[in-house]
Amino acid sequence: MRFLASGRRHKAARPLLLLLSLFLVGAVYAAVSPATSSSAEGVADAQLIAAGKNLFAVNCASCHGLNGEGLPQQGAPNLGNVGAAAVDFQVRTGRMPMANPQGQAPAKENTFTDDEIAALAAYVATLGDGPAIPDQNQYDPSSVSAEGVARGGDLFRTNCSACHNFKGAGGALPNGAVAPSIENTPPEQVWEALRTGPGQMPVFAAGAIPDEDVQKVIAYIKQVNATPSAGLSLGGLGPVAEGFWAWVAGIGSLVLFAIWIATRGARA
Ligand code: HEC
Ligand code: HEC
Repeated sequence: MRFLASGRRHKAARPLLLLLSLFLVGAVYAAVSPATSSSAEGVADAQLIAAGKNLFAVNCASCHGLNGEGLPQQGAPNLGNVGAAAVDFQVRTGRMPMANPQGQAPAKENTFTDDEIAALAAYVATLGDGPAIPDQNQYDPSSVSAEGVARGGDLFRTNCSACHNFKGAGGALPNGAVAPSIENTPPEQVWEALRTGPGQMPVFAAGAIPDEDVQKVIAYIKQVNATPSAGLSLGGLGPVAEGFWAWVAGIGSLVLFAIWIATRGARA
């Protein structure tokens, strides 16, 4: 307290003042610069959404209505709360735009570019609440352990195999719908199918199957389909090869034993 009382400046005052002003400049800059970049982002988003709205009017509105409200006479649902993930899934798998709004939307070749799909998804996302397009870390199965794959198998048998078969080969459903093969479905689309429940498939929300468990299910589907020859080599060729070697070794040792007896017998 002596330096205050004496009225003299502390000798650290100047450097401190300098630091403080540098800090203030930094703080002001930090406060201003994200504002400018987020407004640039805002413009880009607005452009994307506007482009999506145009694409939607041309390709989707005849069934879903100009504002995605759904046209009952076309059997096309309201897209208010389906989210960007549903659009990404439906358009990427070629299900949408449907050619004929009857029955189950068949998967076919997608004719939209990635940018067009992003625009359509961004527009539909503005209509309400729904799952966003996932980040890779939400569905990527590459860090799932062996126990994780086993857990994925349990989840799959409990929740999916009734419709899709035990290894995801697919199958017919009683009401005429078809659960498709999911043996080669990209992980991102498995995630999107779970969260959006296309057609007759139920929605599996994050509360029922959280992202970590979705990754395990995906890892299981990959693993069970990555080893298609396991059944053949173990159940088919395996035993034959083992039998062959058992035969060679067994007969071989009998022959050696016979020779041993013969030489001993001759000596006796
Ligand atoms: C010929 C009519 C038709 C056109 C055109 C069409 N749809 Fe659909 N759409 C449907 C019908 C019918 C369904 C319900 C089918 C089903 O659930 O299998 C549907 C379902 C959807 C769903 C799933 C909704 C949900 O509940 O998960 C999305 C998303 C969707 N459409 C987006 C689009 C987009 C985007 C386009 C334009 C690129 C489009 N549709 C064009 C008829 C159409
Ligand atoms: C009640 C039956 C049913 C259950 C249970 C079910 N699905 Fe489906 N699933 C379907 C049907 C039907 C479709 C096709 C929907 C369509 O084409 O509109 C489908 C579509 C899919 C697709 C899209 C495949 C493609 O063509 O790209 C994936 C991935 C998928 N299901 C994964 C799963 C997983 C994983 C589970 C378990 C967590 C599951 N499903 C549970 C009936 C089911």
